Amino acid sequence: MYNKEVIELFMHPKNVGEIKNADSIGIAGNLVCGDLMKIYLKIKNEKITNIKFKTLGCAAAIATSSKVTELAKGKSIKDALKITKDDIVKSLGGLPLQKIHCSLLAIDALREAIYLYLKKNNKKIPEFLEEEHQRIEKNKKIIEERFHK
Ligand code: FES
Repeated sequence: MYNKEVIELFMHPKNVGEIKNADSIGIAGNLVCGDLMKIYLKIKNEKITNIKFKTLGCAAAIATSSKVTELAKGKSIKDALKITKDDIVKSLGGLPLQKIHCSLLAIDALREAIYLYLKKNNKKIPEFLEEEHQRIEKNKKIIEERFHK
């Protein structure tokens, strides 16, 4: 069901773990299944110099989390915000249709971490990111109610 790249990243994910003294930590949940992802960012001169993740989720969630950290590492915040779920799915060589929703988890956690970094540092937050933050927060509340009570 999964291609070789996805299985390889699931078995040997990159950038797993935490960053001590991270500049920002973003948490996102998947409404469909209740799985969660945490992304840690180290940012210097508006560039993501280090990024790590912890994911409670399926093989597709682990593989997409790993891929998003690879795609975002070394990018400016502005460019990291341009990464889409399609970019992730494409760079993984595809995902089974019923697993596409898993790729949202990684994007949401990355965007949330960037949002919180910008907020904490009183920097301008793009309108779409503010909307994304509202949606991610709302989803987390629903997930808490639905899966973790
Ligand atoms: Fe939950 Fe894949 S089934 S993220």
